[in-house]
Amino acid sequence: MELSLDISRSAMLQYLQDRNWMEPYEEVLRLEKPGEGNMNVVVRVVGDTRNLILKQSRAFVNKYPQIAAPIERIGVERRFYALAASLPELRKYLPWVVGFDAKNHLMVLEDLGKGADYTFVYKKDEQMTAEELTAAVDFLKVLHEQKFDSETVNTFPGNLALRKLNHEHLFVYPYMEDNGFDLDTIQPGLQALAMTYKTDSVLKRKVSALGEIYLASGNALLHGDYYPGSWLRVNAGFKVIDPEFCFFGPAEYDLGVMLAHLHMAQQPEADIEKAMAQYGGSINAEFVGQIEGMEILRRIIGLAQLPLELTLEEKEELLKLAAKKITSNA
Ligand SMILES: Nc1ncnc2c1ncn2[C@@H]1O[C@H](COP(=O)(O)OP(=O)(O)OP(=O)(O)O)[C@@H](O)[C@H]1O
Ligand SMILES: [Mg+2]
Repeated sequence: MELSLDISRSAMLQYLQDRNWMEPYEEVLRLEKPGEGNMNVVVRVVGDTRNLILKQSRAFVNKYPQIAAPIERIGVERRFYALAASLPELRKYLPWVVGFDAKNHLMVLEDLGKGADYTFVYKKDEQMTAEELTAAVDFLKVLHEQKFDSETVNTFPGNLALRKLNHEHLFVYPYMEDNGFDLDTIQPGLQALAMTYKTDSVLKRKVSALGEIYLASGNALLHGDYYPGSWLRVNAGFKVIDPEFCFFGPAEYDLGVMLAHLHMAQQPEADIEKAMAQYGGSINAEFVGQIEGMEILRRIIGLAQLPLELTLEEKEELLKLAAKKITSNA
């Protein structure tokens, strides 16, 4: 890798102008961190006429350099944007890809504007508006319903290396009795609560079978990480970013993950039902529930914690329901 994103303003301008991603008359005013992220290096280039977002992958998780991660993931993300942007109804939700530098594993995106990601919905009394929830479902529905030709499907990256890394955190790590992560540091009592699930062999067998499905392929183009951290609230409305975990898989996966987060964020049950009805389609509701349960479990007793404002009792209630959804047919 030749370019590191912690370069000076003038070096950045030179880099962008050399590739015609900025005009000779443009200026870089400053470089900013646009928001929170763990996986990659993301920089906002504030220019005098417009801004750009630069995203660079490394051979590891940026925040945890001891965890290896496939450096090709930025190329997979770019493929998703290219394919999704070919669908006019999805374009309005996504940033344009301005450029791609394969050698430096770097993608340049349109800056959607300063806003917040939707992780504020985990706060007590925060809600998505009806329009925002409708947009979130609309994006998923259009994405999943799209029939791509077999050449597109067959040549789309399997993203298996990144999926394997994710698989570990979704289906394995949370259920290890001794993984070195003391959940009481998150919330006193959570470790003991988690033991109920870490020692439930029926649940673990079912989760492990779900994990195999996650590693297999399917018919729909999935975003792969469809939760409030991948959604932006900006002036122009609801936007979707960060599809680095995308793959052709079962539509139920994205849907179940989204539902899990709506529940953890305590969104009104009526809104969640409306969202499901809007999605419609021929989905396997039981499978959606299993993915939803898996995501709730891994977010509460796994490593990738969320800023949840839930009491231990509320978490227990969610975990119980989650496990039930997974094992109902075991
Ligand atoms: N196109 C964009 N326009 C505006 N802001 C953006 C854009 N892309 C990213 N951001 C901001 O940068 C943050 C980090 O971006 P992103 O989520 O893509 O990085 P990441 O390293 O993959 O994060 P994570 O570890 O959460 O997966 C976002 O939460 C958002 O605030
Ligand atoms: Mg990411």
